[in-house]
Amino acid sequence: MRTVTLNNGVEMPILGFGVYQIPPEQTEQAVTDALAAGYRLLDTAAAYRNEEAVGRAIKSSGIARDDLFVTTKLWVQDPGEDNTKRAFDASLRKLGLDHLDLYLMHQPFGDVYGQWRAMQNLYREGLIRAIGVSNFYPDRLVDLIDHNDVTPAVNQIETHPFFQRTADQEIMRERGVQIESWGPFAEGRNNLFAHPLLSEVAGAHGRSVPQVVLRWLVQRGVVVIPKSVRPDRMAQNIDVFDFELTDDQMARIATLDTGSSLFFDHRDPAMVSQLGRARVSD
Ligand SMILES: NC(=O)c1ccc[n+]([C@@H]2O[C@H](COP(=O)([O-])OP(=O)(O)OC[C@H]3O[C@@H](n4cnc5c(N)ncnc54)[C@H](OP(=O)(O)O)[C@@H]3O)[C@@H](O)[C@H]2O)c1
Repeated sequence: MRTVTLNNGVEMPILGFGVYQIPPEQTEQAVTDALAAGYRLLDTAAAYRNEEAVGRAIKSSGIARDDLFVTTKLWVQDPGEDNTKRAFDASLRKLGLDHLDLYLMHQPFGDVYGQWRAMQNLYREGLIRAIGVSNFYPDRLVDLIDHNDVTPAVNQIETHPFFQRTADQEIMRERGVQIESWGPFAEGRNNLFAHPLLSEVAGAHGRSVPQVVLRWLVQRGVVVIPKSVRPDRMAQNIDVFDFELTDDQMARIATLDTGSSLFFDHRDPAMVSQLGRARVSD
């Protein structure tokens, strides 16, 4: 698997497997299938409530821990560094691991600076190989970087053909932050899987639309974590390293950008309040 090198030298696979919206009772099988298909980067979160199932699949796979790259995410905590430490301990216990490869602050809400200080301490203690954030727009990201010791290694943000984030990616590049896409297929919105332009590019390569979308992201240097519960799709989604989109095809896909979210805006006051007040119990 191709990797990207994070700002602290850690190597991260450029393509992995996301488990958002996979019910806990289906997650062990899905992750077992994904590992069998060759995925080594797994992306979960405390808020997905399936960390234990991910952990069971890791354990029963027999794959060496060093060959895996496991990400989970800290949900918004009540203020104070102790709450973050407790949430981290709970995630690690549920996953059945003694360290994480990447720990992300899931949302830019609440006691962001307290949460980040606690994450920095866990990183320094060697319990996490890299720390990062998610859903940070450039203004919040730059502020976090300028007023803390450790620069996030990754920012995981909504990135797909209809919301391409090229300007955000450039700011992250300047600041040494790796962009990671969530929702690479926009969860199928805007009829992505049957989109005429994407279908035409796919046809030109004898590939599928999802393969073209993942290839387009990987070619831009974006880490991708597509989700599927179907082994045939898992196999298809990881098989994007033996063809290349032309400059003209990349430029045509660039015209699909709408510049705005297809889900929700993390700067919308109602959303900030709703997500920021929600709590995930241990
Ligand atoms: N940080 C955040 O706030 C955040 C937010 C959202 C997501 N994420 C992460 O990003 C990951 C990916 O995003 P996502 O799960 O929201 O959406 P996604 O990967 O864009 O889309 C998943 C959907 O596409 C379908 N699909 C997958 N491969 C396909 C293929 N080859 N052909 C046709 N359909 C296909 C899946 O259906 P089937 O499963 O039925 O195949 C599922 O309905 C998540 O799992 C999660 O780890 C993070």
